[in-house]
Amino acid sequence: MDFQLNEELKTLQDTARKFAETELKTKAREMDHAEKLDLSVFKKMAEQGFTALTIPEKFGGAGTYDAHMANQAACIVLEEINRRCASTGVTLSVHMSLFSSLMTKWASDDIKSRYLPDMASGKKIGAYCLSEAGAGSDAGSLQTRAKKNGDHYILNGTKLWITSGEYADVFIVMARTSDTGKTKDISSFVVDAKAPGVSISKKEKKMGIRASATNEVVLQDVKVPANNLIGEEGIGFKIALDTLDGGRIGIAAQAVGIARASVEDAVEYAKTRQQFEQPIAQFQAIQFKLADMAMRVDAARLLMYRAAWLRDNGLPCGKEAAMAKLAASEAANYCAKEAVQIFGGNGYSREYDVERYFRDARITEIYEGTSEVQRIVISRAVLA
Ligand code: CAA
Repeated sequence: MDFQLNEELKTLQDTARKFAETELKTKAREMDHAEKLDLSVFKKMAEQGFTALTIPEKFGGAGTYDAHMANQAACIVLEEINRRCASTGVTLSVHMSLFSSLMTKWASDDIKSRYLPDMASGKKIGAYCLSEAGAGSDAGSLQTRAKKNGDHYILNGTKLWITSGEYADVFIVMARTSDTGKTKDISSFVVDAKAPGVSISKKEKKMGIRASATNEVVLQDVKVPANNLIGEEGIGFKIALDTLDGGRIGIAAQAVGIARASVEDAVEYAKTRQQFEQPIAQFQAIQFKLADMAMRVDAARLLMYRAAWLRDNGLPCGKEAAMAKLAASEAANYCAKEAVQIFGGNGYSREYDVERYFRDARITEIYEGTSEVQRIVISRAVLA
């Protein structure tokens, strides 16, 4: 057993940490207030090679996929990026895990060669369209239709809560290709955002991760070439859930990043904030809070690394990914809440970052499967 990162991953961690310090530390607050992502940050992350981490070398990737380290590398980078900016973090996570990893694992070489090089270089941004108004936790009840018509399909439906909807160049869309009402009717398609009939009808105004875009995507008689079907008809739900196993590891990394930010900021503040003629870090009430926070960060990170390692080695990881996401998202919420408490009045002010961590942490218990869904996945595995 080895609890050390190898040299390649250590270098990557160092690069991501430096990038987050220089590019995101001050920008995160500005982008949150403006509720807008600076897309030049995404391009800069691509220049660092982050967008290539989950893509095979053959299709423009970085080599981490071929070395069975894609998920571990993604986690390491995502923790650092999210430590500074969760809005940037989710944009990168969806691009890398829900889009590029799905395409890498399930699509034909023809699709991969047409789309993945631009995803690896960051020239294009990817998004994942599963959720609908009536299909959140019950994702299998989605109603978007894809009707075969010769050499193409016609897609109709409305997707909700789509991360990067308005920025994305390409969508992966889950739609029903037959009508028995079961999950085996669902298929996955690659849809170009510029295809006639695709429109962005709404941008959500959110509590947290405000700089990331979360949109409603409408598909009205969208003509999609038949060779943009991923795999075969009827396996779209399996593809969607398998992809979410990987996506949940990415959200665990996001949550670990937010939790770590909360601890680090709270430690710094507690050492300098004087009350009753001493730094508040001298009080056991504060020390015990910091101890509980630090323990939760480490426990979550270990669960995250285990899930990432399993996935990189092609081993089953549904339960482990759910455990990592559940533990990390609860740690993020716990740590951010305690950080606000340690900061006191200042923690409630927008002058400090901890109020943002508190708002950003909340979504990690909701998207890519609520905490309740993670408990369903874990308990089914435990009882099997
Ligand atoms: N991998 C591969 N296949 C899987 C799977 C997995 N992890 N989990 C289930 N399946 C397969 C099953 O084997 C089954 O296939 P068979 O019929 O051949 O056996 C099929 O999928 C249906 O499985 P279930 O019967 O378990 O499905 P269910 O309807 O009971 O749902 C659920 C289970 C766990 C609740 C699932 O619906 C779920 O995870 N819901 C949450 C959805 C979610 O996470 N949405 C997030 C949207 S993405 C997002 O947040 C957007 C963003 O941009 C950040």
